[in-house]
Amino acid sequence: MPMQYRTPARLGRPLSAIGQGCWQIGADWGDVTDDSARAVLDAALEAGVTFFDTADVYGDGRSEQLLGAMRTRLAAQGEQLPFLATKASRRADPFTPESFTEENLRAWVERSRSNLAMDTLNLVQLHCPPPAIYRDDRTFDVLDALAAEGKISAWGVSVETCEEALISLEREHLASIQIILNPFRLKPLDKVLPAAEAKGVAVIARVPLASGLLTGKFSPSSRFAENDHRSFNRHGEAFDQGETFSGVDYETGLAAVARLEQALDGAMPLAEASLRWILAQPGVTAAIPGASSGEQARRNAAAGSVPTPEQAEVLERFDAAVHATYDELLRESIHPRW
Ligand SMILES: NC(=O)c1ccc[n+]([C@@H]2O[C@H](COP(=O)([O-])OP(=O)(O)OC[C@H]3O[C@@H](n4cnc5c(N)ncnc54)[C@H](OP(=O)(O)O)[C@@H]3O)[C@@H](O)[C@H]2O)c1
Repeated sequence: MPMQYRTPARLGRPLSAIGQGCWQIGADWGDVTDDSARAVLDAALEAGVTFFDTADVYGDGRSEQLLGAMRTRLAAQGEQLPFLATKASRRADPFTPESFTEENLRAWVERSRSNLAMDTLNLVQLHCPPPAIYRDDRTFDVLDALAAEGKISAWGVSVETCEEALISLEREHLASIQIILNPFRLKPLDKVLPAAEAKGVAVIARVPLASGLLTGKFSPSSRFAENDHRSFNRHGEAFDQGETFSGVDYETGLAAVARLEQALDGAMPLAEASLRWILAQPGVTAAIPGASSGEQARRNAAAGSVPTPEQAEVLERFDAAVHATYDELLRESIHPRW
């Protein structure tokens, strides 16, 4: 079945409903070789993915450079060029609002233009900046200036909380919001999705598989490499706790997975149901699962098609289980925090 493409008004360009998350091909998920990184990108392209999400800090530029090489190769072959979304902010040192000077912002964007080998970046997202930045016009004025100069086509924000998303939605030139949205993270359904949809702002759902928990492949005895954030950031030691397993305590997550699997009763793999469920939420433009192999990328991309009537029936049952599970196991710890 073919991939869906969605065109949010403020971006004005179609994105594949499944985008490829490219944190894995940079770092922080154990060792990923260049060959397996390229296998992920090739599999995604072959499956109709035209949207890739990266950041300047993923592998300190490695992820951007791999995408830049892919884009250059496609251009040389006269192929359709993909939409490459990157992020800036996390090179700030110290990571404080004072580091968000015009000089630094311009330097970060210049580095991404070079890594991605692009004169005009498709989309630059602020990468979970310090909360004070959301209310500071100066950072957004620089982004507007970069757009006016043709160095970027559009800018957006990648946020930790719904509150940050709602503050950002007040900005007239905001093109996209990236936020954690999956069957363990339902709060964006309350206000963020309706507000974004009303304004034509793209919503990019990240961590759609709760770092792999929502594939059902983990157990209490699963172990992760030392250089995998699922080892070193379980309690938010390195960056926001919400980014690892969606901020869900591991054992609670396994209990929630068991309930969701029970509702599916083998009718659809949990990973596919999770991705299709996200894409069914009104206002969502795309989900961007990460992948550590070409096979994962291929399977995830297949969830970007319009559901058949049989699949829609399974998803209806799944939706009821998602809401019941959230209310019983997750709401209390998740809703007040993010
Ligand atoms: N602050 C931010 O802006 C921010 C933060 C986080 C993520 N992101 C973006 O969002 C993207 C997605 O989030 P994420 O990568 O953190 O989490 P995710 O997509 O929820 O989980 C990715 C992991 O799930 C497993 N997986 C994926 N597809 C699978 C399949 N079909 N079958 C079995 N396992 C599968 C893999 O685990 P294994 O490695 O164990 O195989 C993979 O590494 C990132 O790549 C990045 O582009 C942005």
